[in-house]
Amino acid sequence: MGFKIIAIDGPTGSGKSTIAKLLAKEKQYLYVDTGAMFRCLGYNWKKRDLDQSEQTLRELGQETAIEFYPDGTIYCDKEEVTDAIRSEEISKLASQISQFPVIRQCMKDQQRQLVEQARLAGKYDGAVMEGRDIGTVVFPNADKKFFLDGNNKVRAQRRYEQLLAKGEKVSYEEIFNALEARDQNDRNRDIAPLLPPEDAIRVDASNLSISEVLATMVDAIG
Ligand code: DC
Repeated sequence: MGFKIIAIDGPTGSGKSTIAKLLAKEKQYLYVDTGAMFRCLGYNWKKRDLDQSEQTLRELGQETAIEFYPDGTIYCDKEEVTDAIRSEEISKLASQISQFPVIRQCMKDQQRQLVEQARLAGKYDGAVMEGRDIGTVVFPNADKKFFLDGNNKVRAQRRYEQLLAKGEKVSYEEIFNALEARDQNDRNRDIAPLLPPEDAIRVDASNLSISEVLATMVDAIG
């Protein structure tokens, strides 16, 4: 059967994290949230008050220890950051830091390594990789590619509710504007912009339930 790689790309608030996690659970595949990796770098960039030089960014990308645990917790240089990296401030920093070519190169290498280690360990039959450029750049030969999208208002509403639930004091307008700005950044950057891979199955999740989206994907993977 072989080790399968499933790429799920899409913008903020498209529901891709929820879906990717459920899909990985259903198939018993490794789940990798690549956005969380950029978030950890954004977090460390700020915490260490670093500059933007290529050398500094390369060290940051290579030396930041990002660890995912099976219970869903995430550690950055041994500090638990599971919730801290979901704030609006870190969302913005993650989008900013993801524009640097040297950072993208480091993350691409680490993401491929994670999958290779999982394949060699023989614990999983595949990996669900969630991000922005998985199907286009990181794993252009993925076994299945999905591009999840949704209209801006629905996505902003989802993001707004997530932040309220976490106790952040934000307004819907603020979130809507920030989401549009980040989308703009992610879609228009020079390297690995957020674009649907040509061979991806495109799913507009605005008016679909989680179980409908999941069923579409499970069917497609076979
Ligand atoms: O999926 P997310 O919102 O957690 O991602 C945070 C930021 O990281 C997003 O604004 C763009 C960047 N990102 C990226 O450039 N490439 C990826 N594969 C995943 C995320």
